[in-house]
Amino acid sequence: MSIQPSELGIDMTPPLPKTPRPIVGFGSGGIITDAHLPAYGKAGFPHVGIYDPNQEKAEQAAKAWGIPNVCKTPEELVELGKAEKAVFDVAVPASEIINILPQLPEGSGVLIQKPMGESLEEARKILNICRERNLTAGVNFQLRQAPFMRAAKQMMDKGLLGEVHDVEMRVVCQTPWNLWSFLFEKERMEVNYHSIHYIDAVRHFLGDPSSVYCKTMGHPKMTELAQTRSAIIMDYGDMVRANVATNHGHDYAPDEQECFFKLEGTKGAIKIQIGVILNYPKGAEDQFKYALDDGKGWRTLSIEGTWFPDAFVGPMGGLQKKMEDPAFNYENSVEDAWRTMCVVESCYKSSASKGTPVDYQP
Ligand SMILES: NC(=O)c1ccc[n+]([C@@H]2O[C@H](COP(=O)([O-])OP(=O)(O)OC[C@H]3O[C@@H](n4cnc5c(N)ncnc54)[C@H](O)[C@@H]3O)[C@@H](O)[C@H]2O)c1
Repeated sequence: MSIQPSELGIDMTPPLPKTPRPIVGFGSGGIITDAHLPAYGKAGFPHVGIYDPNQEKAEQAAKAWGIPNVCKTPEELVELGKAEKAVFDVAVPASEIINILPQLPEGSGVLIQKPMGESLEEARKILNICRERNLTAGVNFQLRQAPFMRAAKQMMDKGLLGEVHDVEMRVVCQTPWNLWSFLFEKERMEVNYHSIHYIDAVRHFLGDPSSVYCKTMGHPKMTELAQTRSAIIMDYGDMVRANVATNHGHDYAPDEQECFFKLEGTKGAIKIQIGVILNYPKGAEDQFKYALDDGKGWRTLSIEGTWFPDAFVGPMGGLQKKMEDPAFNYENSVEDAWRTMCVVESCYKSSASKGTPVDYQP
């Protein structure tokens, strides 16, 4: 028998504005059509205009999702955004973000797809543009807004798990990287484009780590990609273990693939199977299991909605809520995302600095 979140006092509603604003978007690629537009449709956010240099893709997305305006230039989209008092949704390759932000009207609201630039240098520039132009800005680290993560965070915050001392994110899967051709030229791949979600999620639960240990590496069957596997330890002192371990090259049938996020505390534990990563893009079911120190063993929490697309409501809803109420704690703010980028940077530094040499001298 599965338990309903309400039985644990969990509120599953994502952050939402009182009055949704129109949205205009840069980019009409895979993430827009697979996640942004379905999520905005579900949430009832009106999407009024789209621009992509690939006009055919923009036309297709507009037709499929009833977007009334396909703009021919970025300037046209900005003008439309101004006229509609819209928020801007930027989902383009990371290297393009710096070119787009200065074009937005001062004081606008903007949601930027992750990663926040290709490097910490670019992230710093993005942060500074947002500050200088007084943008209310968010970065789409949306895993923390996935319904299963929202439930887990509330359970932790209510103290149901006691003191959380062990956090583990484990991925063993076969990822078809060919779906994202732009990744093949990147020097920084796995951590910057994938594990970054998990780093952000761990930060959401435990706060900022003081340091990291990381090794990110390639795969002999995926030599076209710089790295596809990573082992990351996020350091929270001597009593907390926080690990992210990813292997995207498990080429031995779907049955033994794994993707889970696990929290252990002194009074309870949560284990979430994240189905979308398994046997990608077919996917598998999510599972939310938890155990408390009440002798009842492991139970299943019934969670409605999943990572794609439901998690994409929160970053946009929260952005608009922040615009309505400056006192609202916007969890996906660009200021918070900057700190995830700092952790990512340290992961690359750690990986480059190599481990402690082993001395085998008897
Ligand atoms: N948050 C997530 O879970 C998630 C998942 C997938 C991708 N992403 C991110 O989203 C971004 C886009 O990924 P995608 O899968 O949609 O890629 P994609 O290659 O399918 O689409 C990118 C689109 O951006 C367009 N584009 C390029 N420059 C532009 C510009 N200046 N203005 C407007 N459009 C422009 C391209 O023509 C293309 O259609 C990437 O940075 C990626 O990391 C995030």
